[in-house]
Amino acid sequence: EGGVALVKAGALTTCTHLPYAPFQAKDDTGKVVGFDVALVDLVAKKLGVTQEIVDTPFEGIKSGSDLNAGKCDIAAAGMTITDERKQVLDFSDPYFDATQALAVLTGTTVKTLDELAGKRVGVQGGTTGEDYIKTQVAEKSLDIEVVSYKDLAAQQQALATKQVDAAVNDLPVWNEYIKNNPGKVEVAAGFDTGEQYGFAVKKGNAELLKAVNESLAAARTDGTYDQIYATWIGA
Ligand code: ARG
Repeated sequence: EGGVALVKAGALTTCTHLPYAPFQAKDDTGKVVGFDVALVDLVAKKLGVTQEIVDTPFEGIKSGSDLNAGKCDIAAAGMTITDERKQVLDFSDPYFDATQALAVLTGTTVKTLDELAGKRVGVQGGTTGEDYIKTQVAEKSLDIEVVSYKDLAAQQQALATKQVDAAVNDLPVWNEYIKNNPGKVEVAAGFDTGEQYGFAVKKGNAELLKAVNESLAAARTDGTYDQIYATWIGA
């Protein structure tokens, strides 16, 4: 597609931070798949190239440094659009709505943050879930120790092995975890943070952003978005 400059010839390179199922994670064969991957594949197709995924820590994605450094063309990481991030990234139109959720091991009676006094809550470093909990703890002077993990896998592992008493992350990733690990974990509470995910490009990359938004709009119109949603998120 004329006008869209890409960092690598023939490829749309995507920065993401694995794993974040159902948005992006390796399947049994090691291939990175998921809701975000499928939507960005449509953009790549529109540009006549193939998507190439770069797994990199979330910090560099949300801070804009990866895109600025030319590490990739687009960031697709189940990433919430926030005012702070808008300063350093240009976001696409929203493509997914999410909230935060508190997960506990099945059988735990805790239902609120107040009941976690004296306990440990795991978060994923650099995420909106971490921000949400830290803000709650500060505002309500809660006696909760917030423990940050480098990625979702480490956070979920910490919950499963009782290094923390509860964990906060986006609701759809808990739903996916519960689907894949039946009976282990349950959602104790939801926090309606009204988040929306966006794909991000380097600030000022209007050509690519336009292609992304056109691709999203077409997918919403022709039913592809709904198909992808049904495949990765469910009914
Ligand atoms: N939606 C949350 C945020 O934007 C979490 C995103 C984490 N994504 C990932 N691929 N690890 O902060």
